[in-house]
Amino acid sequence: MATPVHDVVGIGFGPSNLALAVALEEEYGSGVDAVFFEKQPAFGWHRGMLIEGATMQVHFLKDLVTMRNPASPYTFLSYLHAKGRMADFINGKTMFPSRLEFHDYLEWVAGAFEGLVRYGSEVVAVRPYDAGTLEVVVRRQDGLHTCLTRNLVIGVGLEPVLPDGVRQGDRIWHTEDLLTRLDGVDGTPERFVVLGAGQSAAEAVDHLHRTFPESEVCAVFARYGYSPADDSPFANRIFDPLAAEHYFQAPADVKTMLFDYSRNTNYSVVDLDLIDELYRRSYAEKVSGAERLRILNVSRLDAVRADERGVRVDVRFLPTGEVTPLEADAMVCATGYRERNPVDLLGEAGEHCRKDAEGRLVVERDYRLATDPESAWSVYLQGATEHTHGIASSLLSMTAVRTGEIVRSIAGRDARVTQLSPERTAP
Ligand code: FDA
Repeated sequence: MATPVHDVVGIGFGPSNLALAVALEEEYGSGVDAVFFEKQPAFGWHRGMLIEGATMQVHFLKDLVTMRNPASPYTFLSYLHAKGRMADFINGKTMFPSRLEFHDYLEWVAGAFEGLVRYGSEVVAVRPYDAGTLEVVVRRQDGLHTCLTRNLVIGVGLEPVLPDGVRQGDRIWHTEDLLTRLDGVDGTPERFVVLGAGQSAAEAVDHLHRTFPESEVCAVFARYGYSPADDSPFANRIFDPLAAEHYFQAPADVKTMLFDYSRNTNYSVVDLDLIDELYRRSYAEKVSGAERLRILNVSRLDAVRADERGVRVDVRFLPTGEVTPLEADAMVCATGYRERNPVDLLGEAGEHCRKDAEGRLVVERDYRLATDPESAWSVYLQGATEHTHGIASSLLSMTAVRTGEIVRSIAGRDARVTQLSPERTAP
């Protein structure tokens, strides 16, 4: 018997491909044969940073669906309604729910699409099977499996970045694992060192300082102080669907200009409320004379050495070059993330994808990778498109609209999906 060919295979089941699952069903019905492979054992969205009190950085209307289809049963408002919290949420007068609540929303939607997902399944390779089909290799606990598809959608998110020469270990963590690592902390730690000046860094400092009232927390960063994220209304337009259109059309120098202008909406910046809170706490400690929140600004990591008893972190104050040695229980690297290069995953299939002069994948407006003329299969990217579609590439703002565009592109190119009549027309 011939191996069945899926209409769509998704790699990863974070918010991006979860939104795709919803868009496929809402726009083309359950006739679309889609399957998603997710390496985690169950649904989880940055679980290591689900810090009590941390809030979303996007408006709740930028959920998985609203900007594509406000009438969807999978909006954040539908979730609140289903949970019986609509009135309570409204009374709270916030646009930015807690990350814990948003995680619960995502899990609620994921539960409705459980049948399409294979958890505990890591995609390790992709190769052309024939001109119109890709073979996807999946590693599960019981070994390697393969499946075939005409359309592959990669939504594998970002990968954590550590300072040069630093490796994770029992005493050196990345924020992606913060809560998991803290679960294993016994007794009263004397000191934590947190590297970085972005949102995750400030959240880690805040969390450690609140959770361990006897411990010192040293925040180390090169800036003079934490800088606020620009989430003012005009600046926020860079996350609009129209901005992706403009960015895509723009010549390279304009792309660079736009990116640099909007960097402070997302990179190495912190919500102003959190900055104010940390400042207030640091000042109160100065007044009381018991300082345990220490800000080591204009400073860089000079050296780090870890053993089973702790970690020694040498911090260089850049204006004078003076080095301060800090003995700590753990060093937390809040040093950010980078896009995962899809080429690493695509392997042989990647050889059929076009690259630009700088060796980056050529991505079309509909997020499809440009391929050589012999390859009729399609690979779409959710994320890893900052160079073509702009700064919202890895964020939630564009997810709902982007998945609609991908679904319509698949339907426009793939005869099997085209023949499925749309369930509804997206507004
Ligand atoms: P995401 O990383 O969420 O999911 C990718 C999935 O793919 C993961 O579940 C992973 O396990 C899986 N995977 C990876 N490789 C695989 C493989 N080979 N095989 C199978 N599965 C694989 N953005 C925003 O707009 N507003 C916000 O408030 C926040 N807040 C926020 C907080 C924190 C702590 C972080 C780290 C990030 C944010 N972000 C954010 C940005 C974040 O990138 C965004 O919210 C989404 O997670 C993007 O969703 P994706 O599905 O693209 O990636």
